[in-house]
Amino acid sequence: MARLTDNARAVLARRYLLRDDAGAVLEEPEGLWRRVATALAAAEEPGERSRWAERFEARMAGLELLPNSPTLMNAGRAGGQLAACFVLPVDDDLASIFDALKWAALIHQSGGGTGFSFSRLRPKGDLVRTTHGVASGPVSFIRVFDAATETIKQGGVRRGANMAVLGVEHPDVLEFVDAKRGPGLENFNISVAASDAFMRAAQRGEPFALRHPRSGAPAVEVSARELLDRIAGAAWASGEPGLVFLDRVEAANPTPDLARFEAVNPCGEQPLLPFEACTLGSINLGRFARGGAVDWDGLAACVRDGVRLLDDVLTVNVWPLPQIAAVSARNRKIGLGVMGWADLLVQLGVAYDAPAALALADELMGFVQREAHAASEALAAERGPFPGFATSALARAGGRPRRNATVTTIAPTGTLSVIAGCSSGVEPLFAVAYVRHALGGVSLEEEHPELLGRLRALGAEAALPRLLANGRARGVPGVPEEIQRVFATAHDVAPEVHVRMQAAFQRHVDNGVSKTINLPREATVESVRRAYELAFELGCKGITVYRDGTREGQVLTHGVAA
Ligand code: CDP
Repeated sequence: MARLTDNARAVLARRYLLRDDAGAVLEEPEGLWRRVATALAAAEEPGERSRWAERFEARMAGLELLPNSPTLMNAGRAGGQLAACFVLPVDDDLASIFDALKWAALIHQSGGGTGFSFSRLRPKGDLVRTTHGVASGPVSFIRVFDAATETIKQGGVRRGANMAVLGVEHPDVLEFVDAKRGPGLENFNISVAASDAFMRAAQRGEPFALRHPRSGAPAVEVSARELLDRIAGAAWASGEPGLVFLDRVEAANPTPDLARFEAVNPCGEQPLLPFEACTLGSINLGRFARGGAVDWDGLAACVRDGVRLLDDVLTVNVWPLPQIAAVSARNRKIGLGVMGWADLLVQLGVAYDAPAALALADELMGFVQREAHAASEALAAERGPFPGFATSALARAGGRPRRNATVTTIAPTGTLSVIAGCSSGVEPLFAVAYVRHALGGVSLEEEHPELLGRLRALGAEAALPRLLANGRARGVPGVPEEIQRVFATAHDVAPEVHVRMQAAFQRHVDNGVSKTINLPREATVESVRRAYELAFELGCKGITVYRDGTREGQVLTHGVAA
């Protein structure tokens, strides 16, 4: 079993380890891996269960492969709901709106997050026929969802997370864009669904019509470029909204015969159809470096186990609603991805912002994607393809039957990376050393696990205090060149390179890629718009920017306070 950091143990004890009715912790981390592995292997043939349980347990205990948090929390428990991502439909009537709210509460209780499109709701001030009143508009309903999430947050296994999507053509789009500039909506991420037509109109400086969602009639004409600048301005100020390039997302819809995409999960990496769910899992790439090179065979074997493990999650999952059970059983979507990308690069001695890193991202994720698809094809041969395969885009294109309508997603791995003690998702290192403000105001000093060894190898241990004080290596006097180069942090990497890295991974991912495009504090609104345009041009499915220092109470702070 791989060693868990103190931080990992604390996180596991707080939310993941089984407890009795009085709240006493009942299992050790070893027990958690066994509980989850055994519960998932129940999907296997009876004679094969113990073999697969052992395999899954070894992958998790070795911190090579972890399923998303709800699986770790709930597998093997009564009513075990194991998926992290859901999308619920919201129609333009009160019954539908409040059904969605109720269902979201149940999903949050189980540790899942919910995404909604509010694009179908009539705009503020519109007529409500039954009462002869006026509609309050999407943003006011989003606030109701936020308040409900806030109120019930203590009841579930973790605080509920939501995503609100609004189409860029909705007449209330400006109110939506500015909705997170002030307080409120703490339980929501918001994203504007930007159509290709809108992005092109913005590029060309053309007018763009906002349309009434029900009639489709043009309500008002705006300048597309000014609207995109408004979005960029809000994101510059508050980190939100993000953009989702919904036409592009739809172009990759594997089952357009069933429904169109209109929303994504809370962190944006997983587009889902109405009433669809997805279970994610992540491979810790830092575990697949051997002697300064990628261990390709080891990685391939882990990908195969990951696809099987996630397919087993689908089989044993207890779905929160019959509608969700139906869509999920039909499409059997899974999202296997990677974390620890920056750790792998450090081990290979490649700087995150070097061209070689972009090339390796292409090569590595292309490899993972091919192996993952092959594994899903092998599962289809063994267990049958996903029931919607026959009418899917994949079948129409002459593709081989797969067990899963989608196989790969790159998740943020916010908690998984803490449990595995690795860098999150495909992000650069946040810092080479930092203070983590843990619960109860405790602050912990941490440095990157490779840092001290590398300094020693260069005979440069004396630089450690400077690195701890600065949090970064680049540009710090007295820090060896090699350390400065390899230990690139999120703030050292130029925004353009962040976008290019996201695009490199996106080329080989069925679903989306979670990525934050970090901008320096002094970045301009103009640079945000340029990042949007580059992301659109390079084929990303969406973009989230974050300008340093925008939000108060950041969990991680650069450097260690002296
Ligand atoms: O690391 P972990 O498995 O906890 O989650 P993540 O990779 O950071 O996030 C994956 C997805 O889990 C998000 O996009 C959300 O759909 C969901 N999530 C949530 O519902 N609530 C949270 N507090 C965090 C994540």
